[in-house]
Amino acid sequence: MALTFRRLQLHFVAEVGPVDLREVRDAATLAEIRAGMDEHAVLVFRDQAFTDEDQLAFAQRFDGQLHTKTGASVLRRSRFGNEALSDISNVDENGDVLSSDDRRRMYGLANRLWHTDASFQDPPGRYSMLHARVVPPVPADTEFADTRAAYDALPAETKASLDGLRVHHSIAYSRQTLGFDFSKEEEERLKGAIHPLVRTLPRSGRRALYVASHASRIVDWPVPEGRLLLRELIEHATRPEFVYRHAWRVADLVIWDNRATMHRARPFDDTRHRRELRRVTTLDIEAAAPVVGVPA
Ligand code: OGA
Ligand code: MN
Repeated sequence: MALTFRRLQLHFVAEVGPVDLREVRDAATLAEIRAGMDEHAVLVFRDQAFTDEDQLAFAQRFDGQLHTKTGASVLRRSRFGNEALSDISNVDENGDVLSSDDRRRMYGLANRLWHTDASFQDPPGRYSMLHARVVPPVPADTEFADTRAAYDALPAETKASLDGLRVHHSIAYSRQTLGFDFSKEEEERLKGAIHPLVRTLPRSGRRALYVASHASRIVDWPVPEGRLLLRELIEHATRPEFVYRHAWRVADLVIWDNRATMHRARPFDDTRHRRELRRVTTLDIEAAAPVVGVPA
């Protein structure tokens, strides 16, 4: 199948068409979409009539093993009975909008900080695939930032000074910066993970800043000094020239590369309007799991 990629931002993001991802099983088309991810880092697919099962199955065909140790799973069991399917919504198990003081709402509000998915795990997240089921009548957008273009734009001396630095990422840290409290037991389960500050993407060879609001400190540096550098890098990487804003339509599927981008939710009147999306994230591991339905 010949796909078209229409670039939506100077550095990254393409809208792909026409394709029904439920039907995509052949190795050539999957490879074409992966090459699109290497180039654009974020791909937008419109009109994907996914059920939960379709979304889970496509994610595995496309990129292998799924991330299940989500931060949210430490707080509560998934209302879908599957920890690989993240509930990116503002509703409870009855479908009612969460009240303003609900702990689940407080936790979810941290998605408004610039972040990468599952960087607080090892292996971290690779591709996230977010599908829109219910979209409010007011703007409730998601912004993405290209951390490859941001890296490229750094002065040579800065690039050299970042070489070899390692960063601790913790989801407890990003929530705590907003004043969210964890129990001792929750904190124990959310210890975090250490990753390089600059990552080289294996297929394109491009380098990207791997920073996020989960980034709590630079390993072996004094904590305040590390936090200052991390803040400056996030500020740099999210300058308007590196940012794309996605306005959701029902049935959009957006796939992003967490190694090459950051993202954040934008505020809206979430105690009034329902917004329901579902996310599946794959693990950044070398060997993808066996790909269902694709001849070897
Ligand atoms: C996510 C996320 C942002 C949003 O699904 O990982 O951060 O706008 N979503 O809902
Ligand atoms: Mn996210």
